[in-house]
Amino acid sequence: MTIPKSTASLETKQSRRSGWDSRARAYHKYQGKVSAQAVGPLLDAVGIAAGGASAGQRVLDVATGPGYAAGEAARRGARVMGLDFAPAMVALASRNFPEVAFLEGDGDHLPFADDAFDAVICCFGMPQMALPERVIAEAHRVLSPGGRYGFTLRAGKARDPNKQMVYAAVQAHGKADVALPPAGSDSGLRDPAKYEALLAAAGFTGIEISEVPVVWRPQTEQEILDTVYNGSRSSRLLERENPQAREKIDRAILEFAARFKVVEGFKIPRLALLLAARKT
Ligand SMILES: C[S@@+](CC[C@H](N)C(=O)[O-])C[C@H]1O[C@@H](n2cnc3c(N)ncnc32)[C@H](O)[C@@H]1O
Repeated sequence: MTIPKSTASLETKQSRRSGWDSRARAYHKYQGKVSAQAVGPLLDAVGIAAGGASAGQRVLDVATGPGYAAGEAARRGARVMGLDFAPAMVALASRNFPEVAFLEGDGDHLPFADDAFDAVICCFGMPQMALPERVIAEAHRVLSPGGRYGFTLRAGKARDPNKQMVYAAVQAHGKADVALPPAGSDSGLRDPAKYEALLAAAGFTGIEISEVPVVWRPQTEQEILDTVYNGSRSSRLLERENPQAREKIDRAILEFAARFKVVEGFKIPRLALLLAARKT
């Protein structure tokens, strides 16, 4: 397959990369436990089973971040390579999972030969890609025939109380003249049907979409606010607000979160979508 030349400007890519570089530790601290919950179902979907049946399978984890999926695939016996374009993420993943090989590289231009892997995965990285169609085409190229591809997305806010919590608070009390984070921070592609079309266009077959419920369990109200302000895309919405607006927003966020209060803190349900396909 001929892969179209990248149209993303170097400047855009560099600013995305440095954004992730500076957020690596916060992402790990505030999002890690929730992200890691999707890893098991993702690996199961691409045939990297627990219990040693996957020994020797060659797995590539694209946009590995702190390395959760790569680490678990290695624990399941696979031979794993984790790749991320942010050097701080690569360093963090190497510290988290010293037994796994991590490499700095771009998901839309993979530094691997054709047919090099039995499975390619991408856990919550796809909507961050400037060129998802190219990332998918690259995954197809490096997979061997019969190889499996899987990636997860966070569900849109209609199905994710965590997102509703922040957006509703900003909508009600925000003063800044911004409805969404600035363009360039996200490809905006979250619709599974669009990914299904991209997968089919790249030559994948047997496309399956499933839901993976995950739970965010902050212990305190402060942890909720710290996560919202430091560990998520929504922090960019809030950075622009003045202190008076932020106070009201914080109160609204915590009122919403109170619906999910349990004895030991909060149990806030979230939803991930899992897409899996095969290279024939
Ligand atoms: C939301 S995090 C996901 C991290 C991890 N996979 C997880 O499950 O938590 C997105 C990751 O994608 C990486 N990323 C974004 N665009 C990329 C690209 N074009 N090539 C490689 N990595 C990229 C970022 O550096 C970041 O580590």
